[in-house]
Amino acid sequence: HAPLRVALVGLGTVGGGVIRLLETNGDLIARRAGCPIQVVAISARDRNKDRGVDLSAYEWVDDMTTLAARDDVDVVVELIGGSDGPALTLARQCLAAGKPFVTANKAMLAHHGLDLARLAEQGGIALKYEAAVAGGIPVIKGMREGAAANEIARVYGILNGTCNYILTTMEKEGRDFQEVLKEAQELGYAEADPSFDIDGVDAAHKLTILASLAFGTELDFGAVATTGIRHVIAADIAEAAALGFRIRLVGMAQNGPEGLFQRVHPMLVPVDHPLAHVDGSLNAVVAEGNFVGRLFFQGRGAGEGPTASAVVADLIDVARDEYGDAFAMPVAALTPQHPADAGAR
Ligand code: NAP
Ligand code: HSE
Repeated sequence: HAPLRVALVGLGTVGGGVIRLLETNGDLIARRAGCPIQVVAISARDRNKDRGVDLSAYEWVDDMTTLAARDDVDVVVELIGGSDGPALTLARQCLAAGKPFVTANKAMLAHHGLDLARLAEQGGIALKYEAAVAGGIPVIKGMREGAAANEIARVYGILNGTCNYILTTMEKEGRDFQEVLKEAQELGYAEADPSFDIDGVDAAHKLTILASLAFGTELDFGAVATTGIRHVIAADIAEAAALGFRIRLVGMAQNGPEGLFQRVHPMLVPVDHPLAHVDGSLNAVVAEGNFVGRLFFQGRGAGEGPTASAVVADLIDVARDEYGDAFAMPVAALTPQHPADAGAR
C-alpha cells in the first residue's frame, strides 16, 4: 500500500521520540499498519536547533499553516502544546480541510475538545489523542473502546508523571522538591511551563478528557476542583508514612444524581492500595464498570518513548482507518455534566 504521509509539527521531547520510533520500528509498524508510515514534512520554531537526530531527510516547513491544504500530506501530528495559539489554529485548519489530526495536547482538548470533535464529525475526519492522557498507557482506547459497554461509576488515578516522580523521589530519597522537579524537567516529563504539572492543572486537563470518555458527558475543565503539590513538604510525606499512607496527586471523577464530581488534589493513599505502589513517572488509571468490574491501567505516563508510542499507535489507527467519534459518542449525544445545565442547551 502507499505510505501514510505525515507532517510532524513540534520536534521537542515527543516529536523527537516519534522520529526515533518510526526510524527504529518502521518495518514492524508498516506490517501492522498495512503501509509504511512516512514523515514527509517537519516544523518547529527553530530550524537550526540540534535535536540529537538527523532531520536532513525531511522537508522543513517554515509556515505550518500551509500543511492543511497540502495534497501530499495525509495526516498532521501536532506536538507543540498550549491550549490556544498555533496548536489550536493548526487543529482547526486541518479538521476543516478534511485532514486527519493527531495530537498529544491535553490542554487544547480540555478547553476546545468539543469544538474540535464537532469539526471532525462534520467532515468524518479522525481526531486522535491517545498520548494526551497518561502517556504510553492506552487508556483512551481502553475507555473509549474496551470499556464502552459499561456504566462507569468512578474513574480515578495518578495522571501526572512529573508530580508522581517528585513525590515518590522525595519519599524514597529524601530529596528537595525543587531539585527533583529540575530532574523531572531534564528527563522530559514536565510541561514547558512546569507550574501546569505541580499546580495540578495538567492532571485536571487529563481528568476532563477521561471523565467525558467514562460518562459520555461534555468536557468541562472549569468544573474540576484542582489543588497541586506545590506545598507538600518532606514532613508531610514522613507523617503520612508514619500513619500508613503515601501522598499521591490523584484525579477522580464520580457520577451521581447531582451530576459529575471532579477533583484533583494530593491524597493520602493507604499503603495497601495499588496506587500507593505507582512510583516514579508511572501513571495509573482505575475505572469501575458495572459489568467488567475494576480495570487498572498502569504504565509510563510521561517522557519521550512512552508518549511517542501512543502517538504512533494513533497513526497506525489512521492508516488502518480505525476511528470514529472523538469522545464517547457524537458530540450532540454527550450530556451536560450537571443535570441542571440540561435546560440551557
Ligand atoms: P517540548 O519538548 O517543549 O517541544 C515542543 C516543540 O514545539 C518544540 O519543538 C518547539 O520548537 C515547538 N514549538 C513550540 N512553540 C511553537 C510555535 N509557536 N511554533 C512552532 N513550533 C513550536 O514539548 P513536549 O514535551 O514534546 O510536548 C509536546 C506536546 O505533547 C505538549 O502538548 C505536551 O503537553 C504533550 N505531552 C508531552 C508529554 C511528555 O512527556 N513530554 C507526554 C504527553 C503529552 P523548538 O524546538 O524549535 O523550540
Ligand atoms: N507533564 C506531563 C506529566 C507529561 O508529567 O505527566 C505527560 O502528559
